[in-house]
Amino acid sequence: MLEILIVDDEQEISGALKDFFTAKSYKVLVANNGEEALNTVRKHRPHLVFLDIRMPKMDGLSVLRNIRELDKSIKVIMVTAFGTREIVNEAMRLGAVDFIRKPFTLEYLEHDVMEKVNVQLFEDLRNEIDGKDELIDQLQKLNKRVSRNFYQTMLSLATALEGRDQYTHGHSERVDLYSKLIAEELKDKKTTAITNKFLDDLHIESRLHDIGKIAVPDGILNKPNRLTNEEFNEIRRHPGESARILAPLEGIKDHIDVVYSHHERVDGTGYPERKTKESIPLRARIIAVADAFDAMTSDRPYRKAMTRKAAFTELEKNKDKQFDATVVDAFFNAYNKKKDKSNKEAMELIL
Ligand SMILES: [Fe+2]
Ligand SMILES: [Fe+2]
Repeated sequence: MLEILIVDDEQEISGALKDFFTAKSYKVLVANNGEEALNTVRKHRPHLVFLDIRMPKMDGLSVLRNIRELDKSIKVIMVTAFGTREIVNEAMRLGAVDFIRKPFTLEYLEHDVMEKVNVQLFEDLRNEIDGKDELIDQLQKLNKRVSRNFYQTMLSLATALEGRDQYTHGHSERVDLYSKLIAEELKDKKTTAITNKFLDDLHIESRLHDIGKIAVPDGILNKPNRLTNEEFNEIRRHPGESARILAPLEGIKDHIDVVYSHHERVDGTGYPERKTKESIPLRARIIAVADAFDAMTSDRPYRKAMTRKAAFTELEKNKDKQFDATVVDAFFNAYNKKKDKSNKEAMELIL
């Protein structure tokens, strides 16, 4: 609510103004002299002050100067009966926003004074909105910076995690490259979903999809023989953990859905939700293929790496069961485009 302070040594004047503004539902404070006015300003920080120029002891101009020193956001309208042009000019120079003349009629209060009050209100509101825009802008910038830092921290964590597991060293980096290959091939095939943002998001999610393995004990991750059901259930927690860890990232919902779903299978036999077909996000279906290919072609604690040819045969066999057939085909096509320069880096890794 707008708070108005009326400063006047003539009580009929302050009384009339008080009644008028109270009837308009403003909160009204009254001070009879300069000293009282400054105490009230210090205590209540009113939005608007009606300040008489001619008062005993401390005159209106001195009070104005003090108010401006205390808080520049408080708007001051000078009230004057005999104000010369010089005094009015001096008040404006000191920061008064307007002035009104005594004596006033009710009509003058209704029209001229209310108009001045409304102008001030409008300006306050506008400044507040401008301020908010700026604040939102700053927060967004900060959020972006925090997200970037957060991503970098997560990357270090993922690398540290892979260092902990001797068999998955470089896994997320390779999954990232394979996923990119697949997505670019799908883009060439005019898949409309593949935008630049899609590629950027896929990069983040590929790199961080297994971050939740941080919650899986070392003994299980590095176990040299087959896992028991209980141990496998521990492993199955990692997509949920990945999603939970990534929650602070910007655009969280998409990232969460993707990392959470990277072990789903299109036939509904995957985990954690047994999602099927298109209810699994496309980027998760891409990561699933890239992930399986890397798992098959890397040594595991309980078996040696498969050849790439054998891994592709496995992917082929599991089309429409574990994997999205379009994604497998795209991977195979991309793999066969060995001379594609834009994928040189990935190809060096694959071949
Ligand atoms: Fe995983
Ligand atoms: Fe993985």
